[in-house]
Amino acid sequence: MLPYGKQTIDAEDIEAVLSALSSSMLTTGPAVSQFEARLAEATRSTSAVALSSGTAALHAAFAAIGISEGDEVIVPAITFVATSNAVIYCGGTPVFADVDPDTLLVDPVDIESKITPRTKAIVAMDYAGQPCDYDRLRAIADKYNLILVADSCHSLGASFKSHPIGSVADLTCFSFHPVKAITTCEGGAVTTNDSELAARMKRFRSHGIDNTHSQRTQAGTHQYDMLTLGCNYRISDLQCALGMSQLKKLPAFIDARENIARIYHQQFTDTPFVSLLKQKDFRTSANHLVVMKWDHQSSGVSRDELFRHLRDQQIGVNVHYRPVYQHSWYRQQFGENLTCPKSDAVYQQIITLPVFPLMSEIDVHRVTKTIKEFATSITAFATTPETVSIAAAG
Ligand SMILES: Cc1ncc(COP(=O)(O)O)c(C=O)c1O
Repeated sequence: MLPYGKQTIDAEDIEAVLSALSSSMLTTGPAVSQFEARLAEATRSTSAVALSSGTAALHAAFAAIGISEGDEVIVPAITFVATSNAVIYCGGTPVFADVDPDTLLVDPVDIESKITPRTKAIVAMDYAGQPCDYDRLRAIADKYNLILVADSCHSLGASFKSHPIGSVADLTCFSFHPVKAITTCEGGAVTTNDSELAARMKRFRSHGIDNTHSQRTQAGTHQYDMLTLGCNYRISDLQCALGMSQLKKLPAFIDARENIARIYHQQFTDTPFVSLLKQKDFRTSANHLVVMKWDHQSSGVSRDELFRHLRDQQIGVNVHYRPVYQHSWYRQQFGENLTCPKSDAVYQQIITLPVFPLMSEIDVHRVTKTIKEFATSITAFATTPETVSIAAAG
């Protein structure tokens, strides 16, 4: 099965991990702060805090800005559940905003319509690696005195108006899961230009305790104080050694993804029933995902039928994401009636196509050929004049 995403690990990465494994500190040693310094440099932010996952990064970010019971945080309807779960971990309430069906990026107009006196933050999610419209989101955040948090788990290596993602929102959360731009196996980080928020997140990742084991050793003391309630969200030296090695290759990984995305765009310019998401100006995408929309209404064939066909052909397509409030737990907590109409409609159309740096051009062409043949076979079977004209219009 051709996977939809996959890590790229080379001999240098393996050597970096082996060398960390032979050092005296396996967790929270020097590699953690070195990795944080390199991440801050790569994202042109002043602080980076590395954590055990992207989910931990989101939780730490919401905890640092003081999200608690009674606070509302506006999140996109189409995102991974972790984005809104992390609000709930802090006792806050996620409020879902609709997305633009052309890009699946959160719609600033819908965000503004959902602001109440309880709203404390808005979350941008850079779907598929394309940055949100940070100018408009920043204007809304400033107008209503809200904190702008970016879930940039898809967009490390992307930029908005030449600013690297990681330096644009108040807090930016990344994931280093194996399918992401770089990997630390599991892992994540938050970047910010606010040193006080960074200090809070560092405490939060280690139980809310005011100093680290290394600091106590250096100071010759055994004492520590737990200032706030935190978690064990620490990341190990092994993972950060891998992260540093991977980060060096980020530009090459992004170039490889861009090349694959370009082929997909070229190949699908005139395929009936198929369109790709639109790329907006003044942004570069990390091309974490290539997502196509299947016109199930004109074709009369459901997205899931195409999905099954591609899986049968050993093409590991995926779907990102079902609107969060449609999941059972959310329906139990928030009721059955939540809806964001554009998200609900576009969810029926989307399929994520394989893209990862080591994917060969032959594989990309195999994917596009299989989809084109599927689409053409439907066009060929269209018998009534009405269906033919719809199919021809594509
Ligand atoms: C948009 C988004 N947010 C949050 C996460 C959570 O990251 P992690 O899996 O590292 O906890 C992911 C990872 O899949 C994601 O894609």
